[in-house]
Amino acid sequence: MSKHILGVLCSGRGSNLQSIMEAIDKGQIKAELGIVLTDKPEAKALERAEAAGIKAVCVNRKECSGQQDFEEKLVAELRQAGVTCVVLAGFMRILSPYFVNEFKHQILNIHPSLLPSFCGAHAHRDVLAYGTKVSGCTIHFVDEGMDHGPIILQDTVPVMDDDTEDTLAARVLVKEHVLYPKAIQLFVDGRLELVDDRHVRIKD
Ligand code: GRF
Repeated sequence: MSKHILGVLCSGRGSNLQSIMEAIDKGQIKAELGIVLTDKPEAKALERAEAAGIKAVCVNRKECSGQQDFEEKLVAELRQAGVTCVVLAGFMRILSPYFVNEFKHQILNIHPSLLPSFCGAHAHRDVLAYGTKVSGCTIHFVDEGMDHGPIILQDTVPVMDDDTEDTLAARVLVKEHVLYPKAIQLFVDGRLELVDDRHVRIKD
C-alpha cells in the first residue's frame, strides 16, 4: 500500500507540528509529511518545517481576494503535494464546506478542551471561567461545523485551583503532543471507521 501523505496547516507556534514531525522521524507515524501550510507569514511553524527540510508555504489570507480564493489556493497546494490526510494543528481559520468536501473524511483537527464543551478560540479561558475540575484535548474529524465533527480520541487533565490560562494550556499541551500522533497513526492504519456522522469506531 502506498504511504499516506500528510499536509499540516498551522497559524502560529507549531508545537503540534513539531511533535508530528518527531513522531514521523521515530516511526510512530508511518506517513510522509508532504507540505506545511500557514495563513500567516510570521507563523513559527514555517521555520520549524523549513528547518526539518519540509516544503513550507504561506498562503497569506490577507493577500487573497476572499475565503474561496484562499481555500482554492490551499487545496491547490495540498493536491500538488499529493496530500491524503489534512492535519489542522493550531490553524485558526474556519474552513468552508467547499474545503471540507474537497477532503471529505480526510481532515483531522485538535482542540484544547473536552468537546463539545468549550469550543472556539478561548477554550482555556472559558474552562477557568466556568470552573470545571477537568479539562483536556480532543482530536476529531472536521465537518462543516466549528469544532464539531465526530470525535476520534480525547484525553483529560485536572484543572487546579490556582491555574492560569498559561498553566492550564501547558498541561493540556503535553497531552496534545502525545494524542495527535496517535490519532494520525490510527487514520494512516485505516483503523478509524466512521459509523455515522457522529461516531468513530477504532478497529482492532
Ligand atoms: C493547540 O493548543 C491546539 O490544540 C489549538 O491551538 C494550539 C496550537 O498550538 N488548536 P501549536 O501551534 O501546535 O503550538
